Amino acid sequence: MGTEIRLRRTSDAVEPLVLLDPRSAAPLYRQLYEGLRQAIVTGRLRPGARLPAARALGSDLALSRNTVEQAYEQLHAEGYLDRHPRRGTFVSDTTPDDVLHARPISRESRRVVLTSRSSAPPRRILSARGAAIADVALPAGVNTFAPPRPFRPGVPALDAFPMALWARLSARHWQRAGRRHLAYGHSAGHQPLREAIAQHAAAARGVRCTAEQVIIVGGSQQALALATRLLLDPGDTVWMEEPGYVGARAAFVASEARIVPVPVDDEGLDVAAGERASPDARMAFVTPSHQHPLGAAMSIPRRMALLAWARRADAWILEDDYDSEIRYEGRPLPAMQGLDDDGRVLYLGTFSKTVFPALRLGYVIVPPSLVDAFVTARLIVDRHSSVVEQAILADFIAEGHYARHVRRMRALYAERQTALLEALEPVSDILDVQPTRAGLNVLAWLPAGVDDRHVARAAELAGIEAPPLSPFAVRPLTRGALILNFSGYDEMALRSAAGRLSIVLREVIDRSSTLHALGA
Ligand SMILES: Cc1ncc(COP(=O)(O)O)c(C=O)c1O
Repeated sequence: MGTEIRLRRTSDAVEPLVLLDPRSAAPLYRQLYEGLRQAIVTGRLRPGARLPAARALGSDLALSRNTVEQAYEQLHAEGYLDRHPRRGTFVSDTTPDDVLHARPISRESRRVVLTSRSSAPPRRILSARGAAIADVALPAGVNTFAPPRPFRPGVPALDAFPMALWARLSARHWQRAGRRHLAYGHSAGHQPLREAIAQHAAAARGVRCTAEQVIIVGGSQQALALATRLLLDPGDTVWMEEPGYVGARAAFVASEARIVPVPVDDEGLDVAAGERASPDARMAFVTPSHQHPLGAAMSIPRRMALLAWARRADAWILEDDYDSEIRYEGRPLPAMQGLDDDGRVLYLGTFSKTVFPALRLGYVIVPPSLVDAFVTARLIVDRHSSVVEQAILADFIAEGHYARHVRRMRALYAERQTALLEALEPVSDILDVQPTRAGLNVLAWLPAGVDDRHVARAAELAGIEAPPLSPFAVRPLTRGALILNFSGYDEMALRSAAGRLSIVLREVIDRSSTLHALGA
């Protein structure tokens, strides 16, 4: 049973505004803060409403004055409350959400109003597409200023990156070729880099292309943004792996596509299920080398079936080959793009995992018929990526440093994975963690019935980032899991974080079995 908090509104009507749950892993001040913030944002606490003094509210709720003060101070710091030394604490006239977030006023008018804090607010109008973009719900933590800490996904071994070598290549370009790189570059990308990528993709991934088909982009996220913009109209249907990559889903939502979740199993995307659900889709998004986030490799029959469907439906396939070079055993199947005789596959590659993510360089290898459209689209968005960084990367690849670095990282990540699995051994009765054959993360499956979001929140309070699997799916999962990155952190950091995670897990499981026994 939660504690119900009643706060007096200015109208003197009394109604419950916040529920505190003493069983929750979140501290009470945080629950109070969140409850009040929600009440303000949803208008249940109106601008100008006076809040009870911290001491009075504390004694009503059997909370310490400090706990209430902490919640009030946080809301004050974020602009939700105004505090006056003698007059008291009031709901602010303009909340930060008004300033920061667009609120659709009507779906039909397809217009969004942004209000500002000033007394005569300037009103800015978003387009329908702008509203769709502003409304994209991103999972917590994907856009953070905080430095990486275990087990945040997406981070390679930054501690093992050859900085001195990169600095040497960089100095070479600034000293000798520098001036050439200061003028505008070409929107298709720096030519030597396009050539290096075409050669590499052919040799390592069986991609069939010329350098002219390689468009350099600011990471695969930009490739997704350009592809959706160029190839989809609002309302067009897209097959999306379920569960699947949130970055791709966000790009589809932002382009107002209709997303059809298509289940994946241990052969990858279930093409027959996609055809049953939506035979006329315009596009399919797949991660065939290493399904994100579940890890399966798409079988050859499924790949052939997907290509055959795309031909029949006149659809595009986005093949996101984000981490296939980081493999611990066997060779990956060649890219689907190499099997495509029909010009339907767009192949997305990124240097975020193999070099470093802040570089913001990736590529999309497009059918010849799409090259000009992609080049123009890139020009319109931001012309091109930094020419110097592209030139450094081109040398890094052409001189063999890239292949050497990836080889070294495979060995290092294999050791880190082993260290993490060992460190989680003591909780193997709770967590089912199987070694992965590729990539930077393992999936740690929780016992059935344990909510992965709840565990992730409890871990976060202990200073550990262990994102839940659930937000990758639009339908409820039969079992929750945590996504644990082992490659970005040294063994000591992994062992220490695994120890803390184990304590959190035991607490959560003990608490839920106690509640279960009590019939709560
Ligand atoms: C499935 C998938 N694709 C692509 C990326 C890389 O995106 P970007 O190249 O924009 O950094 C990631 C990163 O986490 C990913 O998980």
